Amino acid sequence: MAFAHGKVILFGEHAVVFGRTAIAAALDRGVTATARQGPAALTIRPWGVTLTSSEAPPLEHRRLRDAWDAVRATYEGRADELVIDADVAVHAAAGLGCSAALGVAIVGAIDEALGAVTTASERAGRAMAWERVFHGAPSGVDAAISASGGVIAFRRDAPIERLRPRREMSLVVAFGGEASSTKEMVASVARQRERSADRVEQTFDGIETLTRNARLAIEAADAVAVGQLFDLNQMLLASLALSTPRLEVLCRTAREAGATGAKLTGAGGGGCIVAAARDARSATTIVAALVALGADAFTTELKP
Ligand code: MEV
Repeated sequence: MAFAHGKVILFGEHAVVFGRTAIAAALDRGVTATARQGPAALTIRPWGVTLTSSEAPPLEHRRLRDAWDAVRATYEGRADELVIDADVAVHAAAGLGCSAALGVAIVGAIDEALGAVTTASERAGRAMAWERVFHGAPSGVDAAISASGGVIAFRRDAPIERLRPRREMSLVVAFGGEASSTKEMVASVARQRERSADRVEQTFDGIETLTRNARLAIEAADAVAVGQLFDLNQMLLASLALSTPRLEVLCRTAREAGATGAKLTGAGGGGCIVAAARDARSATTIVAALVALGADAFTTELKP
């Protein structure tokens, strides 16, 4: 059985598409997948979806089928007779890396069935064929963190770097219920960059500076500094029209409940926020405040 992590981006989403560094943390929840010999099929259990290679997919699953075909094509025929079962335990279209986790888990399951021993970076690289179908020109951060786990600093075309907090840090993640489309939000930022290159590049540079400071704050396990940097990153993301009234309410509620700071995470335009807590007890209080607003909130830890 292959497992791939969901993720939260802590700093640098969008800027990472344009060559800056992002920091991402893996969630314990994610996608599991298995593969066995048989006539090619892909089942995604909780969604009630089964695709076969011999039948045309329903319209709403055409991209899923294209993504599966794209992954299989990278195996040059060796993965054409495999029945794949995937079980998804992260919200889709919420900025939690569901699509990348599916791609990485499917690659992992295929590798296992073929008896191929692969590294996290090889699995992430192959899963990019899947990611490109869903997201156009992804930076690769989602696939990288999904395959590697832990906390990483990621920059396009560079090896990932692992970050190790001095002690455990508590975060809160909350899904507000609005779907978020990575492809659309990345395209929106690209359009803004075409129209106002200087403004958008300066915003990315500002985010890069925050990310540099955030590496130190995370390694020092300084929850106050991480929270302040979350707030600043949120302001810069909002200036790119990536926040929504719902995301702003969730961030404010988290801060009022004791979070040291909060920001949207992932592509924005809906989806999730991430908030920094002083400790595990405070994280529980923040979760309760967000749940009271109708959000699906949970805690996650950055581990040493
Ligand atoms: C999406 O999780 C992160 C983005 O930066 C897109 C990407 O890096 O490909 C918005």
